[in-house]
Amino acid sequence: MTRVGIIGCGNISRFHHEGYAKAGAQIVHVCDIRKEVAASVAARYGARASSDYCAVLEDPQVELVSILLPASLHREVCLAAIAARKGVVCEKTLTDSATASVEVARAADKAGTFFATAYMKRHFPAAQQAKALLAEMGEIISLYARSWQPFGSLWDEMLPAEYTTHPSPVIRNYGGGVLVCGGSHILDLIHWFAGRPTMVSGQMKSRQGLDFDIQANAMLWLPDGGIAHFEALWHPHAFAGYERNGWDERLEINTPKGRLDFYTVKWDQPEKNGALLVHQDAQTGRVTEYRYPALNPFHNEMADLLRRYEAGERGTPSAWDGYVVDELIATITTSAEQGGKTLPLQWQDKSSQ
Ligand SMILES: NC(=O)c1ccc[n+]([C@@H]2O[C@H](COP(=O)([O-])OP(=O)(O)OC[C@H]3O[C@@H](n4cnc5c(N)ncnc54)[C@H](O)[C@@H]3O)[C@@H](O)[C@H]2O)c1
Repeated sequence: MTRVGIIGCGNISRFHHEGYAKAGAQIVHVCDIRKEVAASVAARYGARASSDYCAVLEDPQVELVSILLPASLHREVCLAAIAARKGVVCEKTLTDSATASVEVARAADKAGTFFATAYMKRHFPAAQQAKALLAEMGEIISLYARSWQPFGSLWDEMLPAEYTTHPSPVIRNYGGGVLVCGGSHILDLIHWFAGRPTMVSGQMKSRQGLDFDIQANAMLWLPDGGIAHFEALWHPHAFAGYERNGWDERLEINTPKGRLDFYTVKWDQPEKNGALLVHQDAQTGRVTEYRYPALNPFHNEMADLLRRYEAGERGTPSAWDGYVVDELIATITTSAEQGGKTLPLQWQDKSSQ
């Protein structure tokens, strides 16, 4: 039974510790600077509690840690966990800069660490089915990908006061706005389905008084010559999307042999609906809907990572996969700053892949 340490007890934390526990791991140490929160999670599992992440890394009982902290701390804590020879699962985004992510990925390679960047949307059964179908569908000609998430208060005439203090809580916690928060997941899926883009042109928008982006658009040139159109948006439409709850996140992927439409569900309420995949066969005209029961992709993710850890396999998405998203974010941001100039993707790891 793998013994797990949890570092960070905020919004995302329960999805990890409940997922590990469900998959048969033992939570042995829980940490948060908010002592009482760490103690309350630890009590659920009969685990130790601490307020300094070093105590988790020094705990010889802990084999695998989940790092669930603000992105600005990921580099420091990942490097310390690798040095302490723990297996590492780090929530997305891997770090808050492409250069720091390369540093983490190189350190993990050098130490032979089990390392995964947690992008749980790969673990919807509909996403896995899409990946399997794409293997038989030929090259991607065109891909439309959007992450529209409801955030109506950002569109109020008077912005909520908490978002006009700078740095805003969005910047403090995540290091960026919608591109980093919702967009990173979709960039990970584009990379997973279509490979590493070769060029990008980006545009980002904010509102006066905010220090983060609320809309990000990009065109990405795919390795097989196709084009991806990408948009991440915090929007005011409370009933948009296939769940009619404002969550409107989807990918349309076209190849010469057909089309896939993939619809995700609201990230923190996956028990309400299943993600959906629709396949249209261009030759026969047949349309197949792949419907799945509502399930929590984090639970599938933790079960998969535990299985990989215990089998001595690599973590996936890997640290390098996490780096790819951070490099895409950095290049879209630079392109936007240069008025949408088309920029080549300069993969910093070419020599080590
Ligand atoms: N996969 C997803 O869909 C998803 C969704 C939300 C957040 N995330 C990611 O999860 C990570 C955490 O986000 P969150 O929303 O849970 O943030 P959060 O602010 O809710 O939680 C962060 C926690 O870290 C604690 N903390 C801060 N500094 C610490 C330190 N030095 N030592 C110990 N504890 C410390 C805070 O007290 C807090 O409890 C981020 O990387 C974020 O991008 C992913």
